[in-house]
Amino acid sequence: MKIIERIPQELLDATNEFAKNLEWSRRLPIYEIHKWWARRYSGIVRLFLVYSYLDYSKLNGVKDFNKFVSKLYWDPPKIDGKTLLDPFCGGGTIVLEASRLGFESYGIEINKLAYLILTSYKELNELNIHKLKEEIVNFAKKINKELWRTKCKKGHDAFIIHTFLAWKDKKGNLQIRSNKIKDLDRYKSVYYCEKCERVFEEKPDINYCPFCDNNLYKQHNERKEYHELHPYALEYYCPICSVREIKKVDEQDIGNFFNCNLKTAKTKIQTVTKIPSLNETNRLIRNGIKYFDELLTPRQKITFYEFLKRFRGTPYEKISKLMVSDSLRSCSLLAYYSPKYKKVIPGFVIKSYWLPIQPVELNPVSFIDNGLLKPLGRGNLISSYKKIFKVLKNDYGYVRNYKVYLGASQDILKKLRKKFDIVFTDPPYADYQYYSDLSLFNLSLLHELDKEYIDYLLNKEIVLRKKNELKSYISKLLGVFTLIKERLSTNGKLIITFHHPDIKVIKEFVNIFRQLQLNLDAVYPVFGESSGKLSKRKLYLDLLFVFSKSKKESHFVPTTVYLTKEDEKLVRSIDRIVEDYNDAQ
Ligand SMILES: C[S@@+](CC[C@H](N)C(=O)[O-])C[C@H]1O[C@@H](n2cnc3c(N)ncnc32)[C@H](O)[C@@H]1O
Ligand SMILES: [Zn+2]
Ligand SMILES: [Zn+2]
Repeated sequence: MKIIERIPQELLDATNEFAKNLEWSRRLPIYEIHKWWARRYSGIVRLFLVYSYLDYSKLNGVKDFNKFVSKLYWDPPKIDGKTLLDPFCGGGTIVLEASRLGFESYGIEINKLAYLILTSYKELNELNIHKLKEEIVNFAKKINKELWRTKCKKGHDAFIIHTFLAWKDKKGNLQIRSNKIKDLDRYKSVYYCEKCERVFEEKPDINYCPFCDNNLYKQHNERKEYHELHPYALEYYCPICSVREIKKVDEQDIGNFFNCNLKTAKTKIQTVTKIPSLNETNRLIRNGIKYFDELLTPRQKITFYEFLKRFRGTPYEKISKLMVSDSLRSCSLLAYYSPKYKKVIPGFVIKSYWLPIQPVELNPVSFIDNGLLKPLGRGNLISSYKKIFKVLKNDYGYVRNYKVYLGASQDILKKLRKKFDIVFTDPPYADYQYYSDLSLFNLSLLHELDKEYIDYLLNKEIVLRKKNELKSYISKLLGVFTLIKERLSTNGKLIITFHHPDIKVIKEFVNIFRQLQLNLDAVYPVFGESSGKLSKRKLYLDLLFVFSKSKKESHFVPTTVYLTKEDEKLVRSIDRIVEDYNDAQ
């Protein structure tokens, strides 16, 4: 018997604890390179793959399960001559972990952005990182000089890091929601008063402008009019003074923002795809945004456009797309500057497509050039480069032995002739975020989104957008898993993670495998979707199901490692899920 069929609770707890700490300490450069939504915990994936081939007897005499887990993770046994498939592979956690352990691994994915991420990993080893760095530095120097320049207080040439923006209503009034721009330390913050148009430093908790008595807390929250975007303050870095400061925009800055850039942007960049009306994107449409590229300022648009152009047709083309895509999340107007966290918060993470009343324009390349490459903000091309550098340093030789098919599983599986020893997948959830909706913005700016592809995606993607679509969602999954069962070898295992706050949905889902007459070997609550500490997630645990073609008893254990009430509820529901599954059989 293999460990995966009978994991004892102590081992499960140690596994969860280990995977959580590993992920939360962000020591996994390869998964940081681009945040595809709904990443699985890589520690869970690697350990469960190892448990699938490790004999149960290996647990005899284990005293310290934490040590046992850590050793298996950092120094895993090689698994040779086995094949693995993930038919919904997304950003590729499962495919990459399997590849690393020695599996011949395969993935299928319908989304071009996930596909781009996963195929880019493959090219990392061939990348001349020094040459790439050189190219980026040259690019940054040029573009900063042309587009992202301002004057420091002493009159030196400085470059812009952030431009703080607000919307103006039709009367021309600035709609400031929070006058506080930034907390400097415990004693001081930077404010902007829209009445007397001053930028000043004060105690972090003032209610009135010290210059004109303007009430800084009367908010324009009621009627948001996304009429015209207007800059009011800048954060810059002056390499001569070596300071990073915030100032009020001057005429020159406003001129730069509106005039020269806009003209170039209009002539150079054809507007890309019209925004389709979907769950997430509807919020944009309601606010009068018609095209995805309206979510960038003209200046950002040109920067990305020039960056992609520079690498088109070179060995860096794919990587440059990956970098742009990684940066877009923070650079878009969906992002805003959080004084509290002192950084740009990408809109996607918090509330998907949602237009903040005070967005921020982030310079996508800001860097300090005295030998050191510093991003000066998060989520830009330089920080993305640094992540790639880190991956290469820490994971050299990591990513080779896999193949990804771009397309819908229901189509691709029909053409595959191989048999797989393990099918391990994390199928599209009935979740609160819709990957396809979110990815469209990126794909559009990468020029990967035409009418034909949108139609294909929307037609073939398996997703639950509305409650009343549950039936068709389940039947589509049944279709795919029917094909998967045919591709699973006789002694193969089907490992699936799933979560949902509604136990009824979980039962409907699990019923798919009952219909396919698969045996439920085991169920384990495991740490699931990456934390995103800002997103106030309710459910952190996934249920990991192990199915096989041969009859065995179902094994399940709870875990004591969980975070929320919802997690606890999920754990408590396992009994009934297993009972139902076996009773009906
Ligand atoms: C929960 S995510 C997988 C995430 C992945 N495990 C990771 O760690 O990044 C499910 C994936 O299924 C993909 N998908 C949805 N319908 C599909 C289909 N018909 N064929 C192939 N992939 C599909 C989605 O694009 C999404 O990336
Ligand atoms: Zn004032
Ligand atoms: Zn200066």
